[in-house]
Amino acid sequence: MSFELRGPTLSLRIPTEDDAEALLGLASDPEVTRWFSWGPYTDVAQPRRFLVGLEDERLRGEKLDLLAVHHERGPAGITGLYEFSVRDRRCVCGTWFGREFWGTGANRESKALLQHLAFAELGMHRFGSYSNPLNERSTRALIGVGLRHEGVLRGYHRHGDHHLDVNIFGLLRAEWESSALRAEFAGAISVVGSPPPTFVADP
Ligand SMILES: CC(C)(COP(=O)(O)OP(=O)(O)OC[C@H]1O[C@@H](n2cnc3c(N)ncnc32)[C@H](O)[C@@H]1OP(=O)(O)O)[C@@H](O)C(=O)NCCC(=O)NCCS
Repeated sequence: MSFELRGPTLSLRIPTEDDAEALLGLASDPEVTRWFSWGPYTDVAQPRRFLVGLEDERLRGEKLDLLAVHHERGPAGITGLYEFSVRDRRCVCGTWFGREFWGTGANRESKALLQHLAFAELGMHRFGSYSNPLNERSTRALIGVGLRHEGVLRGYHRHGDHHLDVNIFGLLRAEWESSALRAEFAGAISVVGSPPPTFVADP
């Protein structure tokens, strides 16, 4: 199924197994995966396994991971939505980019596209996210794209043998409608195809 969100400098699209080499190149850097319970990638079989599993996760309505592709520089990283409750009309976002894309505005544009997807295409009411309190870069980046820091969830994320605290962030539909990020990309986002139906809330 073809589905793509296009912005001025990058697009978000459903990745395929053919993107495994690109993901290996981007996430073989330990700085990129430092805060995650996976990685860094050392072999192309690892991103391939991740990519092959995505289709089932989409069919089950669990996770909608998209590949960010810079119009000139090619694949940049993964950003997506997960922890869906279509009943409550909420989901959370997660993102990683190759280090060469940090601080370039790619994250900001990808979040404008992802928020457009969540609110305008999927009918969500709440767009959330988490960060490790020690991951100041991610925390600042989330606040910079309009999310509000709502508190700390204690012992929320299991990472190896440890249970870590996480920051919880949220952006509600009405806040998105009047947000600076939405205004910045107004008229600059186009959507090709339809999002997978399992994620779309009833009108
Ligand atoms: C998190 C990530 C997607 C953010 O993208 P980015 O392009 O690096 O972020 P941005 O440039 O949009 O914003 C980073 C913000 O952190 C600030 N920052 C940068 N380095 C920092 C540091 N060491 N400590 C604190 N703040 C820092 C920047 O100044 C900027 O804030 P500002 O807009 O208020 O100036 C990217 O860094 C990444 O892929 N990291 C690895 C994976 C990861 O940690 N994902 C998030 C898991 S929750």
